Amino acid sequence: MSLTIAIVYASGGGRTRETAELCAAAVADAGLSVLGPLCAKGLDPRRLLEADGLLLGEPTWGFGTHHFDYRPFDDAMGKVLGPARLLAPRGAAAFVGCDRAYRTYGTALDLIEQRLLDCGARLLQRGLKIELQHTNASRAFTRAWARDFALRLRGELPHQPHLPRPMHADVDAVMGISPAERAARNAGGLRAR
Ligand SMILES: Cc1cc2nc3c(=O)[nH]c(=O)nc-3n(C[C@H](O)[C@H](O)[C@H](O)COP(=O)(O)O)c2cc1C
Repeated sequence: MSLTIAIVYASGGGRTRETAELCAAAVADAGLSVLGPLCAKGLDPRRLLEADGLLLGEPTWGFGTHHFDYRPFDDAMGKVLGPARLLAPRGAAAFVGCDRAYRTYGTALDLIEQRLLDCGARLLQRGLKIELQHTNASRAFTRAWARDFALRLRGELPHQPHLPRPMHADVDAVMGISPAERAARNAGGLRAR
């Protein structure tokens, strides 16, 4: 029987929705069933119990917090799924939007991951941060990230050991921005001031 991965997201401007859609296509290509992508707004967290694996995402918002369309879903997860850790033994991973203009760089990732752990899920791989608009490089990375998650859920790849949260240089690699390009951008920003 094919495993099912639920994909839940919130998105203000559509970028995180694109991440969710890229994940859905990659999971389907890997031969697993997809539940969603489901918008978190108004979603009953019990829908997560229909799946074997979970990919949850939102843009980081309001100085490092949840997006307002995701927060009620997160609160409800805590109330409905948390006390009995009902998400065990499901595998999970998180994806977020971010912007290095904020000191709270993609911190929604930590919030989503902590909630998943509190509800009994296991984190199978490092979370994904997408900075502002997708690039062709980040689209390819996202598809590979979701495919790897599917393979890990099916036991065809080992679970990733704990890795520190992605920082600026990690996310540049995801977005396809080379160190030289980053240096040029920074210099341009300084000149513009
Ligand atoms: C009001 C507002 C607050 C934001 N706060 C943060 C933040 O605290 N940390 C961060 O890394 N990005 C922050 N961002 C950047 C968003 O996460 C980023 O623009 C993301 O690509 C938006 O994704 P979406 O198109 O799915 O809404 C903020 C954006 C807005 C508009």
